[in-house]
Amino acid sequence: MFIIRPYVDSDLEEIIALWELCDLTRPWNSPEIDIFRKAAQKDGLFLVAVKDEQLIATLMGGYDGHRGWVNYLAVHPHYQRNGVATALIQHLEKRLIALGCPKLQLLIRKENIDVQNFYEQLGYEEVDVICLGKRLIRD
Ligand SMILES: CC(C)(COP(=O)(O)OP(=O)(O)OC[C@H]1O[C@@H](n2cnc3c(N)ncnc32)[C@H](O)[C@@H]1OP(=O)(O)O)[C@@H](O)C(=O)NCCC(=O)NCCS
Repeated sequence: MFIIRPYVDSDLEEIIALWELCDLTRPWNSPEIDIFRKAAQKDGLFLVAVKDEQLIATLMGGYDGHRGWVNYLAVHPHYQRNGVATALIQHLEKRLIALGCPKLQLLIRKENIDVQNFYEQLGYEEVDVICLGKRLIRD
């Protein structure tokens, strides 16, 4: 069994190692800075799953007052296909409903389209939008 709890500062190194293992880091995003920024929000929506004192999964949830967001969903390869990501998403959904958040959204990189199946079996549908972005701070 595993437990789900909010991020604490001592998780930082294990999380970065997990994201690298899961190929979620990119040269233009510093994982440390991403974690510091999220932790500073103190919203308790940055979740981790822990099994036998090992950090095995993350989900960086958020709520901007209009939509909930999922970022950095990652499960250690050794623990995949055991329902860990499903439990994390369902935990976040409950937290967001309690906050009055009406809709949860996420972005999937085009090269990672396989993960769409994971979200579809949880009831998530593709939305016909174009995602635009503009970097405001270079890390
Ligand atoms: C995607 C990911 C988070 C899924 O985590 P997980 O804990 O293995 O997912 P679950 O066990 O809860 O999966 C539930 C169901 O989703 C589907 N599913 C999960 N991973 C899948 C995959 N890679 N391809 C297709 N379907 C998948 C299956 O239907 C699965 O049920 P089953 O195991 O009974 O067949 C995990 O593979 C991962 O960390 N990948 C690397 C990082 C990543 O791509 N993150 C997403 C960024 S958008």
